[in-house]
Amino acid sequence: MAALINPSILSADFANLERDLGRIANADAAHVDVMDNHFVPNLTIGLPVVESLIKVSPIPIDVHLMIEQADRWAPAYAEAGAASVTFHTEATAAPVRLAREIRKAGARAAIALRPATPIEPLLDLLPEFDMILIMTVEPGFGGQSFIDSMLPKIARTRKAISAAGLEVQVQVDGGISRQTIERASEAGADVFVAGSAVYSADDAAAEIDVLRKLASQHTH
Ligand code: DX5
Ligand code: ZN
Repeated sequence: MAALINPSILSADFANLERDLGRIANADAAHVDVMDNHFVPNLTIGLPVVESLIKVSPIPIDVHLMIEQADRWAPAYAEAGAASVTFHTEATAAPVRLAREIRKAGARAAIALRPATPIEPLLDLLPEFDMILIMTVEPGFGGQSFIDSMLPKIARTRKAISAAGLEVQVQVDGGISRQTIERASEAGADVFVAGSAVYSADDAAAEIDVLRKLASQHTH
């Protein structure tokens, strides 16, 4: 299975988002981080900007909601045309209902876990999701270091998905670079978010190809 690379536009130039989406046109999707300054101590963009990005993006949009009250907001991102909508398990009262609403609106549904949140309470719910996002940094900022102690959680998640005979993707987000992507891939991840590693490269498209090649050496 080829690894998917979803660069995070958190590290793009916010005054030139359309141009910077063009720099990653060979990626599998553009990862868009929505932060509300409550769930995380940072503030980025919201629904109106994401709606506009969906209209101009050459590749699918992968929305990562780091917001409180995900139940209230997530379906609108699916209705706007996001390819996938990820909400945090710590920010929803009803993950199954919310995932079903997102799928009904035509997007893939995904659930994210902060580093200190265990996967085990979610294992019976795996069929409700298209993707599980294991955060490999504390959410809120780009440019942080990969947390190596997340590798066992990635492996347990992949094992449970395989054991259940499901096709759920395992996404990792935070600190992904040439130095860390192979470890995450080996543990069982197959969708890789990389912000600073891609956008700090002189040639973002070439960096995406390098990351995809490194991650694709391991199959699940
Ligand atoms: C952090 C965001 C990430 C961030 C990753 O909370 O969810 O998507 O952009 O940035 P890097 O790849 O620089 O760690
Ligand atoms: Zn993210």
